[in-house]
Amino acid sequence: MGEYTAAIIGTGGIARRHAGYYRDSHRVKLQAGADINAERLKEFCDAHEIEHRYTDHQQMLDEMRPDIVSVCTWNRTHMRLSMDAMEAGAQAVISEKPMGEDLGGPMDAVALAAKTGCYFVIGHQTRFSPGHNAAKKLLSEGAIGSPVSVAIRSGGALLNMGSHLVDNMRWILGEPDWEFVVGWIQRETNRFERGSYCEEMTHALIRFEGGHEMTLSLDMEDGVKNQDHQFIGPDGAINFNRQQAVLLDEEGFHPPMAIEQPGYFDELLAWMDGGPAHRNEASGALQAQQILMAIYESALNHLRVEPPFEKRESPLEEAILSGELPCEGEPHDIRSDEALEYAIETGQVQE
Ligand SMILES: NC(=O)c1ccc[n+]([C@@H]2O[C@H](COP(=O)([O-])OP(=O)(O)OC[C@H]3O[C@@H](n4cnc5c(N)ncnc54)[C@H](O)[C@@H]3O)[C@@H](O)[C@H]2O)c1
Repeated sequence: MGEYTAAIIGTGGIARRHAGYYRDSHRVKLQAGADINAERLKEFCDAHEIEHRYTDHQQMLDEMRPDIVSVCTWNRTHMRLSMDAMEAGAQAVISEKPMGEDLGGPMDAVALAAKTGCYFVIGHQTRFSPGHNAAKKLLSEGAIGSPVSVAIRSGGALLNMGSHLVDNMRWILGEPDWEFVVGWIQRETNRFERGSYCEEMTHALIRFEGGHEMTLSLDMEDGVKNQDHQFIGPDGAINFNRQQAVLLDEEGFHPPMAIEQPGYFDELLAWMDGGPAHRNEASGALQAQQILMAIYESALNHLRVEPPFEKRESPLEEAILSGELPCEGEPHDIRSDEALEYAIETGQVQE
């Protein structure tokens, strides 16, 4: 079994989880970190005993040639930096979610991973939750019949929370293709989230192959994150959260089920060793990203959107920049002023 070197690009909050993956593996040496913010880089690298530090990720990739690269930066940069790592010869890339703010970048990155043979995964780690795995098992065994529907209510914006929720529900359902999407959004204030344009509310209906349906209701102001959810089918219901799933059928409530999972990072190393593909292989997340963009397209053009949907640009961004989706107030970021400043400075967004 091989030993690997690793590097992290973006040494902020979520990078701590990635540093933990490497620290807990005796097969990987976390040798380098890169961040545009030198102070944060130093603090992080000191805390995690990382020797090589760079404020330019490309210089880091060129000099260190890491085997595994974690991309833990703000949304808009995920795919560009993942591709830079692949082009520099990385054997594996773990990119944080969401894949990006459009579909073009994710499509290019997935294609490049296929071409270079890079093990490319996206940080939708809720696929490892014991409760979600129990719900998946019950559904696959036909415990509540078919088709099923699930209504998700949550706080958070579509890219940030919706990426987890859409990816996760589709995975629990057995990764069916989507058949159509109908969406509605509201963006009346000039808001951004970690440098990406974001809306205040989203409602969507997503129909999957087999007749399964997901409704999604996201409300930045009043929504509560990580609520319990429920699948309803012709023969019963499954109440579930990350910790457990409870089946309700004609016999009444069954005991709670939880199915423990291997580690997210262990599954990547097993894949690199020749085992089965990681459950978070990026091509699966690409489907979720496509659905997110289809929701924007539907909302902004008042259309029912069906596959194939391969529009590269973000429909939300297009509508904002063309003035079709006017808003009030000064630009502000609900997570990170620094991310918005960087996005404006680098021309990724317009004020
Ligand atoms: N999987 C999850 O559950 C989960 C949880 C939290 C955050 N995230 C994702 O992780 C990403 C980062 O979120 P965070 O909360 O850690 O943000 P953060 O602001 O704490 O950290 C991001 C870091 O990236 C650095 N950075 C930005 N652009 C860079 C570039 N071009 N090169 C090098 N460094 C750069 C910033 O300076 C910052 O230090 C977001 O996309 C978010 O959606 C995922």
